[in-house]
Amino acid sequence: MCNSGWKFKLLILIFVPLLNRYNKKTYMIVIIPKEIYPDETRVAATPATVKDLIKSGLTVHVETGAGQSAYISDNDYMGAGAKIIKSSSDLLSQADIILKVLHPTLEEILHLKTNSVLVSFFQPTRELETVKALSEKSITGFSMHLIPRTTLAQKMDALSSQANIAGYKAVLMAASQLGIYMPLLMTAAGTIRPAKILILGAGVAGLQAIATAKRLGAQVEAFDVRPIVKEQVESLGAKFIEVESSSDDGVGEGGYAKETSDDYKQRQQELIHEHISKSDAVITTALIPGRPAPLLIPTSMVEAMKPGSIIMDLAAENGGNCELTQKDKVIQHNQVTIDGTSNIPGTMPVHASELYSKNITAFLTYMVKDGSLNLDLEDEIISGSLFTHKGEITHVPTQEALNA
Ligand code: NAI
Repeated sequence: MCNSGWKFKLLILIFVPLLNRYNKKTYMIVIIPKEIYPDETRVAATPATVKDLIKSGLTVHVETGAGQSAYISDNDYMGAGAKIIKSSSDLLSQADIILKVLHPTLEEILHLKTNSVLVSFFQPTRELETVKALSEKSITGFSMHLIPRTTLAQKMDALSSQANIAGYKAVLMAASQLGIYMPLLMTAAGTIRPAKILILGAGVAGLQAIATAKRLGAQVEAFDVRPIVKEQVESLGAKFIEVESSSDDGVGEGGYAKETSDDYKQRQQELIHEHISKSDAVITTALIPGRPAPLLIPTSMVEAMKPGSIIMDLAAENGGNCELTQKDKVIQHNQVTIDGTSNIPGTMPVHASELYSKNITAFLTYMVKDGSLNLDLEDEIISGSLFTHKGEITHVPTQEALNA
């Protein structure tokens, strides 16, 4: 009896650790690198989203200083349960999942593991070298740019969260560069007339620009090729200016705009010319998916503007809505300022990071079940935002851009 009890204890001592080792869950490592492109101040996780990722069964490693520009310290991340890694190459080489703001550099991709998963916020059609390098390494790439604009995906919609910031801040940037007041003022020294602001493109950024300019007391007019936005523009207290058209000329699929006819363009130019010459600030936000930004303000129109007026071109990243726009430069032409700052959300890193990290975490946790990734390629959000998988480029417009 005593002998068999001893044997039983020995068996437990040998097999329990073996069993534990066999059952031990391997946690997927999610990494948050420090953004390395100049002027990128945003970060893909905050302490709050680190907690959400850990709750989903993931392990989070953050590069030292990743949150510095958004005023988040390494200690804040550690307090939320993340591990801080000093070496960028060590961090990249241990990642199962990489969460970033901008696309990775070719150097960063070299360190990544084959078959790891990248989620970041860039237009794959414009970063073809990156896409090729990711696909050659069999990295599964998702772009927050490609998330479908559906009700279910609203909390993942980084395009909207960042465009909202751009629309708001562009008005403040214009106001701070103008030599005039925004609101109507009646003073003992006389009456100051309100500034006239023209918004071209009334999507997410344009509507936020209208709301902000109205709050500052400006007189606001807006133009868009989609007549459906008229009601939204008017509900914010702005005047909608429209090109009379019998057909839905600029109305594309999925609530987006499409290229307009030449006749429409001609009438649109005349209308914009008439209004722009009276405006103090113009905020342009017009975009057409998969195409360069439409040219709405040729040089001749800039020359018709008031001295001291300003154009904030939010389409600078995609070529600009103004002929004279230079990406990431502020220039003067005939005493008119043309501001082509492309990363306006990056000028508000705290809220831009807070919102972006919520969007990207909502997307990642949508795909995670019990700490493991469940890539359901039948799901329209997952397949819609995928651009590389198993060594293939899955996003058709990117394939076409590469072939072209
Ligand atoms: P966008 O960034 O692609 O374009 C900005 C605006 O420029 C759009 O309103 C577009 O009509 C306008 N535009 C294009 N060409 C123009 C031209 N030649 N002249 C003047 N304006 C021009 O658009 P954004 O802001 O991304 O929104 C696109 C659509 O997606 C909208 O219908 C919006 O309501 C919808 N949306 C739906 C969401 C959802 O259901 N979850 C979330 C966010 C947006």
